[in-house]
Amino acid sequence: MNYTSLHFARQIGKQCSRATVWHPFYRGVYRSQVNRRVTGVAYSSLARQSSEGKSVIITGSSRGIGKAIALRLAADGYNVCVSDLGVNRAGCEEVAREIRSMGRKACVAMADVTSREEVKKMIETSVRELGPLNTMIANAGIVQVMEPLLVSEKDFQHMFSVNVFGVQNCLAEAAKQLIDQGNCQADSPGKLIAASSIVGFRSFALLPHYSASKWAVRGLIQAYAIHLAEKHITVNGYAPGIVETNMWNIIDAGMAERTGMDKNEVTEKMAHDMSLLHRVSVPEDVAKLVSFLASSDSDFVTGQTQLVDGGVILT
Ligand SMILES: NC(=O)c1ccc[n+]([C@@H]2O[C@H](COP(=O)([O-])OP(=O)(O)OC[C@H]3O[C@@H](n4cnc5c(N)ncnc54)[C@H](O)[C@@H]3O)[C@@H](O)[C@H]2O)c1
Repeated sequence: MNYTSLHFARQIGKQCSRATVWHPFYRGVYRSQVNRRVTGVAYSSLARQSSEGKSVIITGSSRGIGKAIALRLAADGYNVCVSDLGVNRAGCEEVAREIRSMGRKACVAMADVTSREEVKKMIETSVRELGPLNTMIANAGIVQVMEPLLVSEKDFQHMFSVNVFGVQNCLAEAAKQLIDQGNCQADSPGKLIAASSIVGFRSFALLPHYSASKWAVRGLIQAYAIHLAEKHITVNGYAPGIVETNMWNIIDAGMAERTGMDKNEVTEKMAHDMSLLHRVSVPEDVAKLVSFLASSDSDFVTGQTQLVDGGVILT
């Protein structure tokens, strides 16, 4: 910096400090800056608060995306209630064992999410074993590959009973539990999170009722977020793309059968052609986003369904 610009900078500095002292607006700003520096609020509020000791229920967490979320949230400090259908008890027990080995508490609660009674009991088990509930993750879901004109009433009902009624049962019962506990505050909100999908933004022709169910999840998320905001409960969703799990194997096989392509080729081709990042995603990609949604970093985020698809859908 030469002499002229140094002189100029000093002059500006003097003018600014005069304005700071005499102008009421700058005086306010100055005071709040001093207060923040004194209390350290500005810096400490940037750090993610620990989730240690909080509890979360994750449905459909014996495998796939649910399992990856369970392990990631345990790493973040959460105690975890691992839940799934009775047939997947062994998988749940295995996930719970892994969580305990990480030094967290874990319990197992079998529940079919289509049953309101079973969802209520799942929440009771979690609260009894792990303490007050903080976060619910309605992750369980099913898929079916079929042309729209072939979808029967029964197919449609079954899809909605798991993917929509199941989410509704989990959100409603968890919200009641959070409200009854009275532990949700503006700086520590309760969190309800549900699984949507890329097809909740743009339907696939061979996934008509699955797509419709994932749009419905977004609708529920918005309604719950609006209704529960004043109770200090945030409600958000995650929308994965092509994730290597049992579910995607079903989609892959169904698409291959109907398009005449080789199984596996469908997945690779779709991931390569459709996503900007040109790869199939893994459950951990989704778990990282859910970790954010379940953490203090997302306390000011509500009513959103966040895509995590490597850039298939651009919003
Ligand atoms: N895999 C993907 O590519 C993909 C993409 C977008 C969205 N999703 C969504 O992510 C979620 C997890 O999917 P995933 O890929 O891990 O599938 P997955 O099939 O591996 O896991 C789903 C889990 O849900 C459980 N489940 C099914 N019906 C249930 C019921 N009635 N009650 C309780 N549990 C039940 C299953 O037993 C299973 O453990 C689903 O909601 C799915 O729609 C997956």
